[in-house]
Amino acid sequence: MQITDFISAKRDGREVTRQDLYDFASSVASGGIPDYQVSAWLMAAYLKGLSTAETISLTLAMRDSGTVLEWGDGLPLADKHSTGGVGDKISLVLAPLAAAAGLRIPMISGRSLGHTGGTLDKLESIPGMNVNIHIEQFMRLVEKNGVAMTGQSDDLAPADRRLYALRDATATVTSIPLICASILSKKLAENTDILVFDIKIGSGAFMKTEEQGTELASALIDIAKESGVQVEAFLTGMDFPLGLKTGNALEVKETLEVLRGEGPQDVRELSIRLTASMLMQAYPEKYPRVTDAVEYCGRILDNGNAFARFILMVEAQGGDISGFESLPEAPVKFEIAAERSGFWNGVDALVLGEVVRSLGGGRYRVDQKINPSAGWEQIIPCGTDIRNGEVLGLVHAEDQESAYNASLSIIEAFVWDQPVQPLIRKVI
Ligand code: URA
Repeated sequence: MQITDFISAKRDGREVTRQDLYDFASSVASGGIPDYQVSAWLMAAYLKGLSTAETISLTLAMRDSGTVLEWGDGLPLADKHSTGGVGDKISLVLAPLAAAAGLRIPMISGRSLGHTGGTLDKLESIPGMNVNIHIEQFMRLVEKNGVAMTGQSDDLAPADRRLYALRDATATVTSIPLICASILSKKLAENTDILVFDIKIGSGAFMKTEEQGTELASALIDIAKESGVQVEAFLTGMDFPLGLKTGNALEVKETLEVLRGEGPQDVRELSIRLTASMLMQAYPEKYPRVTDAVEYCGRILDNGNAFARFILMVEAQGGDISGFESLPEAPVKFEIAAERSGFWNGVDALVLGEVVRSLGGGRYRVDQKINPSAGWEQIIPCGTDIRNGEVLGLVHAEDQESAYNASLSIIEAFVWDQPVQPLIRKVI
């Protein structure tokens, strides 16, 4: 099919064949179609949607646009993927934790998308850290250290690498079929035995409601199961950022705190619970009850094993360990104090994500460089009784003016006196 016919078919809501989608994904990966035609199709797909058959075909076509990894015998292979949130550094904690707990974790992650952060951008705030490693090295590191983290590449889900970046720049992110194909093309290319999905719901998520989250979860679960992967999905709240630090380098700092057995409770709890799900799926006889797996993961965080595994992974990918104490720091730290007393729920996650993006923590254009030090450091946890004048957090920025402007948006987005919702809403 000619590319213009392929675009007009979607524009007019007509279904295309599996072969058409395979040809499209392969041309996207090879650069055979220019950005403007790919973007036109993305907008048509966003507006008209994809049928279930088209979503499955696009997912498999995107997976097959690169190599599907073939592993030898060894520990069970597992991975988790989040649908995108604000302050969501769970992958950075979970990957070394799961490896230290007895799994192989070949994690292919993404960059920031819309107002949400990206694991690769966070990792790149570590001096020297290489997240573009070649397949052979990636597989070697997973076999040796139990964990490696990389991005989509010329060899691994290359169609997603291009579509992901174009969706980010064309306001076509929040589409269930496109999210589904993006996530699963990477995860199926890893060829893992077990997957855990963290489906974010709430203001700072792409899925705003539990109904939308459940629909996305069902689509992800159905395709994963059809591809022979064991899977569990969690619906988790994203009305407020996870943890106290949002922004690339700040989130790496918080990761280190949690890996040292410290840090905020919500990041620790979710990292442990999602890792426990992987362990229970991999070793059902050893971990028949959630409490057994949760208790074991907690011990591995507290005894330093997960931290040691993180250091091993970072060093193996060129990251400078001594750089941890000298992760990029913003020149300006601007205090925000409460302008009233009351029960403070926190900062609305969508607004905060957009503020961090505007400070340089995310992108508006494909070629935009990230400012790794920009972000928001909360001093008081969400869900606390506050006195007027109490300092709640700090904006980390390049200059005083952008910090001040960010502070106005953040204050405006404070939420007060609302009931607190549980972090984990549903397990599917
Ligand atoms: N994560 C992905 O990899 N892709 C999406 O579209 C959303 C979250």
